[in-house]
Amino acid sequence: MSKFYITNAIAYVNGAPHLGHALELVQGDALARYHRMIGDDTRFLVGTDEFGSKNHQTAKDKGMSAQELADLNSARFRELHEVFGASQDDFIRTTEDRHQKGAQKLWQMIEDAGYFYKKDYKGLYCSGCEAFVMEKDLVNGKCGNYPRAPKELSETNLFFKLSEFGDVLREKIESGEFEIRPESRKNEILSLIKEGLRDVSFSRPSSTLPWGVTVPGHDDQVMYVWCDALSNYLTALGFAEGGELVERYWPADVHLVGKDITRFHCCIWPAMLLAAGLPLPKAVYAHGFVTNEGQKMGKSLGNAVDPFEIVETFGKEAVRYYLLREIPTGSDGDYSDERFRALYRDELQNTFGNLERRVVSMTLKYFGEEVPEADSHFDELFEKTRREYRAGFESFNMKKAIEAVVSLAREGNAYVDETKPWAMAKEEKMEVLAVVLGNLLALCREVAELLVPVMPEISAQMLEELSPEGLSLGEPLFPPLS
Ligand code: MSP
Repeated sequence: MSKFYITNAIAYVNGAPHLGHALELVQGDALARYHRMIGDDTRFLVGTDEFGSKNHQTAKDKGMSAQELADLNSARFRELHEVFGASQDDFIRTTEDRHQKGAQKLWQMIEDAGYFYKKDYKGLYCSGCEAFVMEKDLVNGKCGNYPRAPKELSETNLFFKLSEFGDVLREKIESGEFEIRPESRKNEILSLIKEGLRDVSFSRPSSTLPWGVTVPGHDDQVMYVWCDALSNYLTALGFAEGGELVERYWPADVHLVGKDITRFHCCIWPAMLLAAGLPLPKAVYAHGFVTNEGQKMGKSLGNAVDPFEIVETFGKEAVRYYLLREIPTGSDGDYSDERFRALYRDELQNTFGNLERRVVSMTLKYFGEEVPEADSHFDELFEKTRREYRAGFESFNMKKAIEAVVSLAREGNAYVDETKPWAMAKEEKMEVLAVVLGNLLALCREVAELLVPVMPEISAQMLEELSPEGLSLGEPLFPPLS
């Protein structure tokens, strides 16, 4: 049996979750569910990133302690996961002891290998990006990603020798040993490496930033937030104690992250692992951003769509469907209420919902308890659909996978229109009718099975209603919207 360890980025706790977080959650969840479905020993990790100056500053602005803010918002992320029916196996908070101990162990391994040095440093720090930025990259004094101007810092920090890892990283990326998807992001990282990687400040004096993991052997320093955050992928497996889960699941198969944080995952993180002598993750998938009517969406920009609200309106399964079906995984996609309503009507209600309802109710009407058998009419089509579906999931293209299912359901509807089962019944051609309905039931089951990673509850309802043990009809799969 293969194993599949997939991780999502851990979210900052400086605000409540927005639709971008929901997008990543649903993508990760669908991938995890797909891998469970094909029998992989799957582990799906999510969590919250609670240290660093951004969270510390926000708490200060709100008159709360950093821990209070972390508790409040980490709980909101947990709620997001519940509301979306996410199937994570673990939720890590970086303020947990298991994380801090694990991050310190990894630090020590890097230190022992000689990859840290102390240096006085003066630079501009953007707390939005949680990174030092170069003067030349600023536009009107700001970094471009965040509205707040970076702050000048002058301090003694411990530096990580990232510059030593450019060649080996390039080689591993080019050979595909360390995979970056989509291709456009891989090229971006390769050109970043070509420009030359600079050493990174990896700690902050605790006198200026008291909110972080203490650097082992340097009580007056806390870890740079990205250093501690990235190590969560290992610490959650019980890295501090060298646990059984590390053996079983490391290296990760996929780190799923947004395009804004690919460079941390594709340069700093693999370099940290190489420095510590640990295996690299197999792949980083970078997803695009969900925009709000064409505008970048974010906590700091104040135009975030509230995922809890749209789940209220459309239901969690429909929102999962929208995010996976409508937002291309590798590039940006837009959230629009109008588009959502159109998709709900055309695909969820008319294509999937109607097909299943028509097929089940006709079968119940003409054959009652006896569930008719299929012949091989759709076998080839099923084969082709599964191929496209698998190719979609395997290539991080869930939109393509879903399109294959939609097109299968459309074939089902077309077959109903062509064969006109009601006319067959009228003409009492019951034998042919039985085969036609048997084929349609098989097609509906196929659709339901393929929808498991996308809409787990709806597909479970469909499979129950389509059970060969006895058909039934429950509440409408996709009720009318208000
Ligand atoms: N804490 C870091 C990640 C550390 S991982 C070791 C972080 N947090 S975040 O809260 O800002 O973002 C969490 C995830 O959400 C990231 O992968 C980020 O790219 C993603 N998104 C944030 N805004 C987004 C959209 N508008 N659309 C899609 N994803 C977006 O970065």
